[in-house]
Amino acid sequence: MLSYQHAFHAGNHADVIKHLCWLGVINSLKKKDKPFTLFDSHAGAGCYDFSDAMSSKNKEYETGISRIQNIYADSALLKDYLTLCGTFLTHNNYPGSPAISAVAKREGDTLHAMELHPAEFEKLNTNLYRLKSANTHVHKRDGYQGLRALTPPKPNRGAILIDPPYERASEYSDVIKGVEQVLKRWKQAQIVIWYPLLSARAGAKQGASEVMVDKLAQTGLPCFKAEIKIAPNSEDIGMYGSGVLVINPPWQLDLQLSTALDDVIKDMGEASTAELTWINQDT
Ligand SMILES: C[S@@+](CC[C@H](N)C(=O)[O-])C[C@H]1O[C@@H](n2cnc3c(N)ncnc32)[C@H](O)[C@@H]1O
Repeated sequence: MLSYQHAFHAGNHADVIKHLCWLGVINSLKKKDKPFTLFDSHAGAGCYDFSDAMSSKNKEYETGISRIQNIYADSALLKDYLTLCGTFLTHNNYPGSPAISAVAKREGDTLHAMELHPAEFEKLNTNLYRLKSANTHVHKRDGYQGLRALTPPKPNRGAILIDPPYERASEYSDVIKGVEQVLKRWKQAQIVIWYPLLSARAGAKQGASEVMVDKLAQTGLPCFKAEIKIAPNSEDIGMYGSGVLVINPPWQLDLQLSTALDDVIKDMGEASTAELTWINQDT
C-alpha cells in the first residue's frame, strides 16, 4: 500500500540536507568530462507547489528552505543549492530530487527516476517533461527492481539516491538488501541514503535508522554520515532530525557538506546541530 505523499513535507529540513548532499555528489561527478548516470529509486512527484493543499497544510518548508532561501551563503555548495532552488521558489515551487538532478546534470549525462505510486508517477512525468532535460527517463516501477535492472551503467560512473518513505518498518531492511544487491555488480557506485532520526514517539521504528546505517557500514566501503538535528530527541517531536549515509563519497564532499550544514543550522533554530562522521575512512 502506497499512501505517502511527499508534497506534505516538501522543502522541510530533511529535504535541505538530502538535496544539498545529492547536489554535492552531482557537482563532483561534473568535474570530469566523462558522462555519468544518476538513479533516483524513490523519485516522488519531482516538483512541489507550496500553494497546493498538501504543501500548505503543515507548511513544513517553513522548517527548511524558507529559513535559508535569502541568506548569504559562504559555502559554495549551499550557494549552488540556493541558486538552483531560487529559480523554482520564484514560482512558489520547490524542486524534488529528480528536478535537482535534471537541472544540475549536463545534456550528455543520464537520469533514471523511478516512482511506484501511480498518481505521483503522473506528476513526475509531467514535471520532468516541463524541464526539457535530455537523457532523462521516468519509470513507473519498484525502485529496487529498477536498480537491479539498470545498474551498472555504461560507462561505469554515476550515483544513486535512495529515499524511501520509511512508513513500514520493513523498508529499512529493503534498503539494506537493495544496496547490497547493487554493490555486488557495481562496487564503485556512489550511493546516498536518506534516513530519519526518530524519537520514542515513533514506536518500533525508533532506532531503525541507526541499525540500518551500522549494517550498511559493514560493506566495509568508504562511507560517512551527515546529520542535522532540529530539536532534542524527546517525545515532543517524532522526527527530530535526519541524515544521509554516503557510500563511496566523492573526494572532499565531506568538507563541502559540513561547511554547508554549519551555515544552514545557523538559521534552523537554537536547538539545531549538524555533524558529519566518517564511518569507514577513505584511504
Ligand atoms: C520521500 S518520497 C521521495 C522524495 C524525493 N526523493 C525527493 O527528494 O524529492 C518517497 C517516494 O517513494 C515512492 N515509493 C515508495 N515505495 C517505492 C518503491 N518500492 N519503488 C519506487 N518508489 C517508491 C513513494 O510513492 C514516494 O513518492
